[in-house]
Amino acid sequence: MAYELRDWDIVSGVGITALGVAAARAVETSRDDALVRDPYAAEFVRAAESPVPMPTGAGDVAHDEHCWSLMSVFLGLRSRFLDEYLLDSCAEPAGASGTRQIVLLAAGLDSRTFRLPWPEDAVVYEVDQPRVLEFKDDVLARSGAEPGCTRRAVPVDLRDDWAAALRGSGFDPGAPTSWLAEGLMPYLPADAAERLLTTVHELSAPGSTIAVEYLPGAGSALADSSVASRLTGLGIDLASLLSDADYDPSARLAERGWAVDEVTAEQLAERYGRSFDDDLAELAGNGRYLTARKR
Ligand SMILES: C[S@@+](CC[C@H](N)C(=O)[O-])C[C@H]1O[C@@H](n2cnc3c(N)ncnc32)[C@H](O)[C@@H]1O
Repeated sequence: MAYELRDWDIVSGVGITALGVAAARAVETSRDDALVRDPYAAEFVRAAESPVPMPTGAGDVAHDEHCWSLMSVFLGLRSRFLDEYLLDSCAEPAGASGTRQIVLLAAGLDSRTFRLPWPEDAVVYEVDQPRVLEFKDDVLARSGAEPGCTRRAVPVDLRDDWAAALRGSGFDPGAPTSWLAEGLMPYLPADAAERLLTTVHELSAPGSTIAVEYLPGAGSALADSSVASRLTGLGIDLASLLSDADYDPSARLAERGWAVDEVTAEQLAERYGRSFDDDLAELAGNGRYLTARKR
């Protein structure tokens, strides 16, 4: 299993999934009705020189490449919803003026630290594998990108003692935190997912929030060769990367006393006026986004 690798970069192991979602954001960004505008997404794809060709905009996607259109809608919905979650958590009165400490777990090539209008005194921690963050930093530096807040990269494997690395970067467990786990849970074996949420719980002051994306049943759906074959155009062997663990983060957070809400990708499609017009709609529409607050 690729997930057992200890060390991956942007075109290997789970790292290539970060490039795949950047490509999907680049396709979405190029649409007139884009739900997310990520000015760095295409730059990441070009700079990676991936052996697997990936689009840098809708113009690179052939009409019959339904998987990239599907990914563009999926990533547009997910990015918009999670952008709103993060900005709302900074605006709400968690402290007197909302959360100022944000942790992006498995940040990958997510450029939110640079593209969202953060409060100036916000501190955003980006946690991911060292080689993924090195590539990201290099591309962003060459683009002249500047964050509108304080950014702290935390290069560490989330299966190791990432809490120590986070604290070592200045993270304050006494202050409320807005956590994000986007595009991470589906790759984690159940024991790793459980350890991750336990650590988040331990590091969270009351009033902290989290948003988690998860895809119930995706691992087993991709074991079906007809579903897997519809996704071969992505050039990423998702079936070998996705975990088949049906771990339920909503239930696990609720058991720990967090107030949990949940929405499906299908509901987000309705909310934002988009649809999954493909026979993979059932798989994509079943994606879940939980948001939770520690009491
Ligand atoms: C699908 S990408 C999502 C990236 C980002 N959240 C986004 O949506 O653009 C998955 C990311 O998870 C990271 N990841 C997965 N397992 C990890 C681990 N054990 N330690 C650190 N990063 C990990 C990968 O390196 C990759 O960047």
